[in-house]
Amino acid sequence: MFLVTGATGGIGRRVVRLLRQQEKSVRAFVRLTSRYSELEHRGADIFIGDLHREKDIEKATQGVQYIISTHGSGSDSLSIDYRANIELIDQAKAHGVEHFVFISVLGSERGYEDALVFKAKREVERYLVNSGLNYTILRPSGLASNLLPLAEQFRETGLYLLIGDPKNRSSIVSTDDLARIVVDAVTFAEARNQILPVGGPEILQREDIPRIFGRIFNKEPIVINPPVLVIDGLRSAIGLFNPQTQTALGTYRTLLSNEFFCTKDEITKLEKIFGFQLETLESFLRRYLAV
Ligand SMILES: NC(=O)c1ccc[n+]([C@@H]2O[C@H](COP(=O)([O-])OP(=O)(O)OC[C@H]3O[C@@H](n4cnc5c(N)ncnc54)[C@H](OP(=O)(O)O)[C@@H]3O)[C@@H](O)[C@H]2O)c1
Repeated sequence: MFLVTGATGGIGRRVVRLLRQQEKSVRAFVRLTSRYSELEHRGADIFIGDLHREKDIEKATQGVQYIISTHGSGSDSLSIDYRANIELIDQAKAHGVEHFVFISVLGSERGYEDALVFKAKREVERYLVNSGLNYTILRPSGLASNLLPLAEQFRETGLYLLIGDPKNRSSIVSTDDLARIVVDAVTFAEARNQILPVGGPEILQREDIPRIFGRIFNKEPIVINPPVLVIDGLRSAIGLFNPQTQTALGTYRTLLSNEFFCTKDEITKLEKIFGFQLETLESFLRRYLAV
């Protein structure tokens, strides 16, 4: 039995689909408020819970062999990115789980002080490595599926909002490729006890994204390019009445002001371990946007 947290998220949903295609038994950890009927139709066991509650985590981990932690936090990084994962790891040890796959983030090791998500991921990575469990830690760059709503907006308006340096590099990964890597990490010996950066096959500059949209929709992009300073202004204003969102914006600012890409060698290694060629961003978008 696989336990998948974040089962209704961009990665988790695809992981559950793949596992069910392989007829593996899956327990999908979901909130009552989530949209989980698709997972149920695919034959996943639905576990209703909240990752804020240790009791729910304890119950959900009973009788599972594998744990795949894909949940994300919104603005409550301390409880969800940090504490819930620590509790999952403790319960995995208590229940003799065979393998734990953790979705971290590219750059988690860089020590960004102002980015709580990155700090939480790094501490969870350390805890997992020292836990004695078999593990695979995947550090993805940006997910291609995040760009789908922006592409739909672009289709309507031709507009693209690019905050910060347009030359910053990233290697956006196909969310379907990432899900495949997650699932295979449990069985592929070369992925055991590894920390792997995960990106797409090409290093893109952020300004390449509106160009790709433009090619796909045959439309000249209109790029609006404010500096990262606008986020600082927003943070100060929001901090007056919502400190949690102010903290979350620290992670967002870190993402906007730094580069997140994998080297060619890292991609070659990944393709060798998992035995397939990673998909480009343009190919991913064309498949989903049916163009
Ligand atoms: N998105 C990226 O570009 C990116 C890049 C690098 C790493 N990552 C990491 O990859 C992971 C998955 O990202 P994603 O974009 O697939 O996430 P996502 O689409 O934002 O989904 C987050 C998931 O976590 C669940 N969740 C949040 N709070 C919960 C709680 N209290 N109890 C139970 N479930 C809860 C959500 O459930 P609901 O449906 O109920 O909201 C949802 O299923 C995250 O760990 C993220 O940090 C993401």
